[in-house]
Amino acid sequence: MTKNYKRTLVTCALPYANGPVHIGHLAGVYVPADIYVRYLRMRGEDVLYVCGSDEHGVPITIKARQQGCSPQDIVDRYHGIIDSSFKDLGIFFDIYGRTSSGVHAKNASEFFRKLYEDGKFITRESEQYYDPEAKTFLADRYIVGTCPKCGAEGAYGDQCEKCGSTLSPEELLNPKSKLSGAEPVRKKTTHWYLPLQDYEQWLREWILEGHKEWRSNVYGQVKSWLDGGLQPRAVTRDLDWGVPVPVEGAEGKVLYVWFDAPIGYISNTQELLPDDWEKWWKSEDTRLVHFIGKDNIVFHCIVFPSMLKAYGGYVLPENVPANEFLNLEGEKISTSRGWAVWAHEYVKDFPGKQDALRYVLTANAPETKDNDFSWKDFQTRNNSELVAIFGNFVNRAMVLTHKFFGGVTPQAGELLDIDREALGAIPALKASLESDIEGYHFREALKDAMGIARVGNKYISDTEPWKVAKTDLGRAGTILNVALQICAHLSVAFEPFTPFAAERLRVMLGVNPSWDSIGAADVIAAGHAIKPAELLFTKVEDAEIEIQLQRLEAIKAEKAAAAEVEASKVVPQKAEISFEQFDAMDIRTATVLEAERIPKTDKLLKLTIDTSIDRRVIVSGIAEYYTPEQMVGKQICILANLAPRTIRGIESKGMILMARQSDGKMRFITPQEVLENGALIG
Ligand code: MF3
Ligand code: ZN
Repeated sequence: MTKNYKRTLVTCALPYANGPVHIGHLAGVYVPADIYVRYLRMRGEDVLYVCGSDEHGVPITIKARQQGCSPQDIVDRYHGIIDSSFKDLGIFFDIYGRTSSGVHAKNASEFFRKLYEDGKFITRESEQYYDPEAKTFLADRYIVGTCPKCGAEGAYGDQCEKCGSTLSPEELLNPKSKLSGAEPVRKKTTHWYLPLQDYEQWLREWILEGHKEWRSNVYGQVKSWLDGGLQPRAVTRDLDWGVPVPVEGAEGKVLYVWFDAPIGYISNTQELLPDDWEKWWKSEDTRLVHFIGKDNIVFHCIVFPSMLKAYGGYVLPENVPANEFLNLEGEKISTSRGWAVWAHEYVKDFPGKQDALRYVLTANAPETKDNDFSWKDFQTRNNSELVAIFGNFVNRAMVLTHKFFGGVTPQAGELLDIDREALGAIPALKASLESDIEGYHFREALKDAMGIARVGNKYISDTEPWKVAKTDLGRAGTILNVALQICAHLSVAFEPFTPFAAERLRVMLGVNPSWDSIGAADVIAAGHAIKPAELLFTKVEDAEIEIQLQRLEAIKAEKAAAAEVEASKVVPQKAEISFEQFDAMDIRTATVLEAERIPKTDKLLKLTIDTSIDRRVIVSGIAEYYTPEQMVGKQICILANLAPRTIRGIESKGMILMARQSDGKMRFITPQEVLENGALIG
């Protein structure tokens, strides 16, 4: 390891307490962190492992409102679920705290206060939407309206879920408050901002110059933020759920959730070690490592470090090994759609198979790019790797020791080449395992560990001690002695990855070897009695996978049904207009003379039409439904006096009348019989 550190502080992103934890969270953050921590502990390092629930923020208040309870009720519920699902998966933090705790409120408040007093903030006045009935400012998510991009109703002030566009609340058409339904008004409000631009130069030196070894996805994101220029970031919000802003004139304001949450790492440490926390946060010889998902990079590499720097005296992260995202069966995991595998459900559906999930999530970890979890792959990896290689090898070694030697480790006689080769292959795998974990390459590290199991499995297949024992019991004893040594190596090497199996293996072998004994030929002494062999891993059956796949199918079907209902919705009548408004429209018949596709577009046709008053060009978005050939010669109806518009460099005069059906498809309107061109409709 690069620098000489005395201790390592590992933090995991605090999960939002508004939903349970799923495999995406586990693969991205918690499983790799747990591997790292277990490894360091095996190596005798002093490690503190901190996490907790992130319990503030607007989504939690929205969920509470939907369910008719308080935000505290929501976070209490999910805090409990998340906390126990971590434990069930063998992820034992030294503390799993929560940001609604008193210790945190005091600490976050003090943190803000000091920056405030040291003049580290600037204030800015801005106009924000305010609900005049509910008498409160509205977070972006609390404003709904029509999407300016796709026209969908019910778009949020920050995003349209229909078309995926990022929005600002000012862009919404017909904005309404979600609280009261009232039309929001613009109102002035003042907030505190951290002027990030002041930290830009320092961040460049610290990360871009000083941490070129960070993962390329992390380094790249930081670089593009810095190259784009940093702006002041608001650290307060007008909201009634969070840590109150502890200065005068800030009534009704709380700390922005992304300001208080990372301070939660510190608060949780204080909660655990009220008298001793500072050495973990303020000594240069602490190695601080943040495990996070890629959506958290800016907060952990730019914002939080700037906060710590502004405060002074804190250590900065030595590394921020952020992962990309994990998909499920080829689709993005979505909590709201239920497209996820939940940790707490997994442990119920697959009792005793925590290791299998940890193993598969590591083997498929989205370390450098997004990756996919599929149930089929889960089954294959469990059955043909854990069961067929690791489990099978250990089982054969132990069962044969019982069969031929009464469960007592036999003496090793003279080692042959094949024995020396097997044992000799292990130190290199151990070294690579170490450097991979220390370099945060957990997938590779797992391959190294699995490499040891492969060596063992091949060794026992090649040497066939069950046959040898019939003619040469002494030689069979040597082989099984070597095989048992390799079992002992596995019981250590797999501790970071599959801790349940590793521990059971140590218990079965009756040894508790040190990390350094991986590869040694004398971990288990001759004469040492082992316990009866139990299976380390069991198969995942097709039927179990089928149940999971059916559950996902049901979600897909539900989504498809909802989309159908949505599409078949009858469009409500538009607002009333006067006769004059109607009469002002020049709607008439016309005939298409020429039609051609507009290059580089999917939807647009350029139509030249005869209206009897003129020949004109209309650009129409009907190319999805009609080919140019189908259009030529057709009589159509047009709105002739629509103000001209230039589309793709072509002036379009008027609009073709089309009917949109419930499936979204469009047909143009044509008279029952051919009429003269230019006949007025109305
Ligand atoms: N709750 C955030 C998320 O799930 C992570 C918070 S990490 C912290 O994306 F540093 F702010 F605590
Ligand atoms: Zn939209």
